[in-house]
Amino acid sequence: MPSPSFSEFSTQILRPTGLKLPEFQRNGRLIHVLFPDQFDPVLLDRIAVAAEKISLLARDRKGCLALRELLPHREAMLFFTQPSTRTYLSFQAACHLLGMDTLEIRDPAVTSAAKGEPPLDAIRMFSVNSDIIIMRSEVSDFAETCAYLMNNEARSGHRAVPIINAGSGADQHPTQALLDIYTLQNAFRFTSDQDSTHWSYFEDLRKRHPQLVKGLTQKHYGFCGDLGRGRTVRSLVWLLSQYQGITLHFFSPNHPKLRMDPELRQFLLQRRIEIHEHTSLDEAIHELDALYMTRIQSEHDGPDSPGAQLSKAELEACHLTEERANRMKDYAPILHPLPRNEEIPFRVDQNPRAKYFEQAANGKWVRAALLVYIFDVEAELDHAYRANMGMVHNYNQGVMPGR
Ligand code: NCD
Repeated sequence: MPSPSFSEFSTQILRPTGLKLPEFQRNGRLIHVLFPDQFDPVLLDRIAVAAEKISLLARDRKGCLALRELLPHREAMLFFTQPSTRTYLSFQAACHLLGMDTLEIRDPAVTSAAKGEPPLDAIRMFSVNSDIIIMRSEVSDFAETCAYLMNNEARSGHRAVPIINAGSGADQHPTQALLDIYTLQNAFRFTSDQDSTHWSYFEDLRKRHPQLVKGLTQKHYGFCGDLGRGRTVRSLVWLLSQYQGITLHFFSPNHPKLRMDPELRQFLLQRRIEIHEHTSLDEAIHELDALYMTRIQSEHDGPDSPGAQLSKAELEACHLTEERANRMKDYAPILHPLPRNEEIPFRVDQNPRAKYFEQAANGKWVRAALLVYIFDVEAELDHAYRANMGMVHNYNQGVMPGR
């Protein structure tokens, strides 16, 4: 999307991410969400706690009414010019859950873009009509550019609103990574409905896997599919790289467009993270504590389509068959940002390890938690949680808040 006004920010965009981050926060709180680098494990835990409270409150009418009291004075602009089902719907559902109204544009052809309006002028219009802009664009730098524009507006005393990156080109997808982390955190609590004073799922697992620890540390994570162009992989790998003792396995057909991109490999090596690259899931599927599948992103194909250049066998080596899924550790979750193509057959959905639909459902809670954080109503959420959930007595584990 060429626009003369974009070039104004090119020097800012070309800086290393670390140098940019202070500009996306104010008084220690994030205002714009653009990169996974903005989230450390402390903030991830904070968002997970809020997401958990929201999901519990949303179970009944009273809780839903309390949630709707949190942000009825805020309005969100959903500007999604790239195809989206889950991210768009879960952001919209999250806004409505918190009492926010939503405005939306999904097709730029119905806007003044069709009359040649510069994209940043459109962003200014969104910012005067809403309190936050949640955007997905095929242009990698667009969300970041909008954040600089908003910062400039704020400095000039004009109205400025937070920018949330809901997927930027093949670059980053930080809010997907937040819900991926939340799904992994839930899986690695190793709790079960059958837990009692006599038996615990975790202790039972430990008989078979003595080294197993709770939480995201000390785990083998596998990423499979289109690692070169999948923005969700890049964002999640970045977040996971902050956890101790992890090993990362990357599975992709041997094609330069599909292999992990060299920049990410360099970053992981600098962080001294153990990485292994494979061309078939068979090489290490049994070692994984979690597997993150992705589809081949053929919409980015040029004339040299990887799908056409690779053999059927090379592509299928990175498909998760039922038989392969059964070779995974019994507790290891299978994740996928979705949509899927043929890399996971429907039959795998019945496997207890398959968590991708739960993962997608977590999008609403995590994105609502992010909005609660951005608009600084965590204390109000906590108040609603205590007032509505009260204290319940769990006869196995003592008195616990609301579970
Ligand atoms: C992903 C995306 O858009 O990057 N989907 C999503 O947001 N849940 C993955 C994909 O399109 O393959």
